[in-house]
Amino acid sequence: MTSNYRIIQSTTDFLKENGITSPEILVILGSGQNNCFRNFNLIKSLKYSDIPHFPTSTVKGHKGELQYGSIENKNVLIMNGRFHLYEGYSAKDIAIPIQISKLLGVKILIVTNAAGGINRYFKTGDIIIINDHINLTGQNPLIGPNIEDIGERFTVMNNLYTIEYRNKLVNIAASLGIKVMQGVYAGLLGPNLETGAELTMLKTIGADLVGMSTVAEVVAAKHANMEIVGLSIVTNSEFPGKASDTSHDKVIDVASKAVPNLMKLIEEFIKSI
Ligand code: HPA
Repeated sequence: MTSNYRIIQSTTDFLKENGITSPEILVILGSGQNNCFRNFNLIKSLKYSDIPHFPTSTVKGHKGELQYGSIENKNVLIMNGRFHLYEGYSAKDIAIPIQISKLLGVKILIVTNAAGGINRYFKTGDIIIINDHINLTGQNPLIGPNIEDIGERFTVMNNLYTIEYRNKLVNIAASLGIKVMQGVYAGLLGPNLETGAELTMLKTIGADLVGMSTVAEVVAAKHANMEIVGLSIVTNSEFPGKASDTSHDKVIDVASKAVPNLMKLIEEFIKSI
């Protein structure tokens, strides 16, 4: 047993003692995307800073609040604000909330993010269902002793973003009249934006989206044998050979405009499973 596992266990116990007893789904919301589900019945809200050993969000647009509640008959845990490698957190730190969720009983992870669009068919404000990812962060939450109580040593990456759920989302989006497409998300370390040459590389290796989050969380969730859903909001369009000049304010602004549709989609998805 590693010290990391003791931390995870003690924080799990703390959350149970505070009424977060049986979440089935964990939702991690990205930049400018704090919880605005219409039919969320809040049971308990905790600031990250009040949770022992929980990382805290340092980025503008990330609220830093854990909410537990229900959507219809599903118990949902929502992270309003996430942790990034570029804030100085390790991939293992980023995995902590996912591993705690696993011990609490979570079986499904839904992650959202703001991303740069590389695929030329993706426009600013589009919602994209992530169908695979490329981990270019050079980091991995699973290094070091394996936590056997969470998952196996060697994690397979097949059907990483559950195909059945992607198909479901496509159908739900059509019924709601929301445009969605699918694409590959490349996760980079950041915090600098991409050079022109890096964008050329990303396009060449098959990335449709680029961002600075998600991959460490998803690797940790797959290790924990969760089903995974990933959704990106395209906040800026990028082109091979031309360095990105987007700003965080623009990312937050565009993301927040697409949030109502994103929330509708996730809510209907949760109701449907
Ligand atoms: N690059 C990296 N991260 C991002 C971007 C981008 O263009 N847009 C939003 N997050």
